[in-house]
Amino acid sequence: MKCAELFNIAGQGALVTGAGSGLGLAIAEALAESGARVTLLDVDAGRIAAETGRLEGLGYAVRGAAVDVSDHVALERAFDAAVAAHGRLDVVFANAGIDSGPGFVTGWSGSQRTRNPAGALESYSDERWNRVIDVNLGGVFATLRAAARLMKPQRSGKLIVTTSVAAYQCEPAIGSAYMAAKAGAAHFMRCVALELAAFNITVNAIAPGFFVTNIGGGHAKNPDVQAAMAKLMPMHRVGLPDDIKGLALFLASPASAYLTGQQITIDGGWTLGMAD
Ligand SMILES: NC(=O)c1ccc[n+]([C@@H]2O[C@H](COP(=O)([O-])OP(=O)(O)OC[C@H]3O[C@@H](n4cnc5c(N)ncnc54)[C@H](O)[C@@H]3O)[C@@H](O)[C@H]2O)c1
Repeated sequence: MKCAELFNIAGQGALVTGAGSGLGLAIAEALAESGARVTLLDVDAGRIAAETGRLEGLGYAVRGAAVDVSDHVALERAFDAAVAAHGRLDVVFANAGIDSGPGFVTGWSGSQRTRNPAGALESYSDERWNRVIDVNLGGVFATLRAAARLMKPQRSGKLIVTTSVAAYQCEPAIGSAYMAAKAGAAHFMRCVALELAAFNITVNAIAPGFFVTNIGGGHAKNPDVQAAMAKLMPMHRVGLPDDIKGLALFLASPASAYLTGQQITIDGGWTLGMAD
């Protein structure tokens, strides 16, 4: 294949969960800008309608639907509707995710920390644990299962899961269900990659570090939080949604045809350690 073709996804059918905001929206934009026909799914009906309308206004082939990834029946229907509308399904991003409330300390790595009783293990409610697992792990399961049903017969496909550096590094300022769900999603991704490799379906994960999005009530949009986090980053800045686009396109395109079962960290060097 010529290099010019490696990143060509024009005309392909794509679906992104959690596409109404943040990283999922940036991923959907990257795919649409590259000529794919994109279905945007999100639990937030208002947001998905507004963003889909905005992208349509820019001339992109997009459609949106309000779906909660923890509603597995509705999700299956949304996949069928995506294929009916766009004629094919080549690329799926299992990206939807929620934060898990406070962890057992306040403050981030390197900053002043104090114990936070509200985030202590004995304070963790069943409801909070179950919702984080249902969305961040169960949602990935349901999304990859729905994709496999449609992609196996065509013997091709690209599946990409948004995990987190929290999949392999404990962050005590974040509730521990988040770490458990993301680690589970990362290893589930590897198992599915092994199972689907013979069907020419690749399965990989993007593990973001700290990105400015609406997760956790949008606390990352606070300039003081950004300045404090930027000090911890070897690249001296936090991640912006646009920073995810190149990696998303790489994993969605023929350029990554022989890459499967891999979790790629994108974090400005955060998990390498402290620099200056
Ligand atoms: N922002 C970060 O620093 C960061 C770091 C690591 C991993 N992540 C992961 O990136 C993914 C995207 O998060 P983001 O930071 O862009 O947050 P965000 O809140 O800006 O976007 C997440 C979107 O997912 C949607 N969503 C939430 N629950 C849903 C559900 N049950 N069904 C369907 N849609 C649902 C939300 O409505 C929202 O539009 C998540 O999986 C998150 O865990 C984010």
